[in-house]
Amino acid sequence: METILLEDCEADLIKAADIIRGGGIVGIPTETVYGLGADASNPEAVKSIFNAKNRPADNPLIVHLADFSDAEKYTANIPELAKIIADRFCPGPLTIVLPKNDRIPSITSGGLKTVGIRIPSHKVMHRIIELSGCPIAAPSANTSGLPSPTSAAHVMDDMNGKINAVVDGGQSEFGVESTVIAIENNTSVRILRPGCITKEMLLELCDNVIIDPAILHDLEEGQTAASPGMKYKHYSPSADVVMVEGNIKDFTEYVAKFNSMDVYSLIYDEDGKYFPYRYMTYGSTSSEQAHWLFQRLRELDELGVKKVFVRAPSVDGVGLAVYNRLIRAAGFEVIKL
Ligand code: TXA
Ligand code: MG
Repeated sequence: METILLEDCEADLIKAADIIRGGGIVGIPTETVYGLGADASNPEAVKSIFNAKNRPADNPLIVHLADFSDAEKYTANIPELAKIIADRFCPGPLTIVLPKNDRIPSITSGGLKTVGIRIPSHKVMHRIIELSGCPIAAPSANTSGLPSPTSAAHVMDDMNGKINAVVDGGQSEFGVESTVIAIENNTSVRILRPGCITKEMLLELCDNVIIDPAILHDLEEGQTAASPGMKYKHYSPSADVVMVEGNIKDFTEYVAKFNSMDVYSLIYDEDGKYFPYRYMTYGSTSSEQAHWLFQRLRELDELGVKKVFVRAPSVDGVGLAVYNRLIRAAGFEVIKL
């Protein structure tokens, strides 16, 4: 199949929407990462997303809508707290897991009785939803297991020849995927995947926000994941990633032992000044680190790097999302200095 590259102009967005209405798949920019969009109510179209990504069938897709008021068409019994949270944070980088109704086919929800609903704020994604008139199922547009794409070029790298089109909407703003939450007993929020809507932000609207244990820890044998995506190795470049927790002085001493041509460090911007070995930086603040992380992991692969030592990010605020992606990229290999 030829994958056509579309631009952020009305004529091309109409083309993208037509492809989706006709059962095709399009790489679409969002404010978090690029998604692989298809009509969520069309089982054949959804099947082709799973095929293109090589994604396990039990990992559910998020359904993207133009407005939270449309969620009633695809869900049942929306808790009051979900409406309050949506009112504050939608459109934006948040996915709310709700009980689904029959209009969402089982293949879309990975066999679950729930569906993740997201209202993206990116104007390209928003316009394509409007023009298509479809609920759009969209996982991140990477091959399963690889870092999520934050540019149209990344989507082409993974999906050229496997999907109908990619819309180029520039670099993704947040750089990590949406925060995924579930509402419990209409009183608490459980964060299933951390993102740029943080625990602290959610605590402004409810008294109890639980961080699901699978966010920071590997699942034990036989444990089931509240969010199926958490059980797979994820976000990994080809290079072997090792996360190292400690200050830059200890970090530098530690990586000295491994210094060679195909070993790199991924450190904070301010660490670079006196760092004597091969390195890239991924920002200074947590938001910058979220923005750059996946881009850098892909760049390190392009250089043919075999091993990457990453200076661990803070786990506060948006940092938790960065830490969560890195600990998976590292296959839970963390060195604490
Ligand atoms: O920012 C995002 O959310 C991006 C953009 C494209 O919108 N999408 C995205 O989709 O990251 P994906 O499929 O790569 O990740 C969705 C995550 C998976 O870990 C999945 O297991 C979880 O959300 N998820 C989806 N539906 C769920 C459900 N009903 N219950 C629990 N977890 C769910
Ligand atoms: Mg993904």
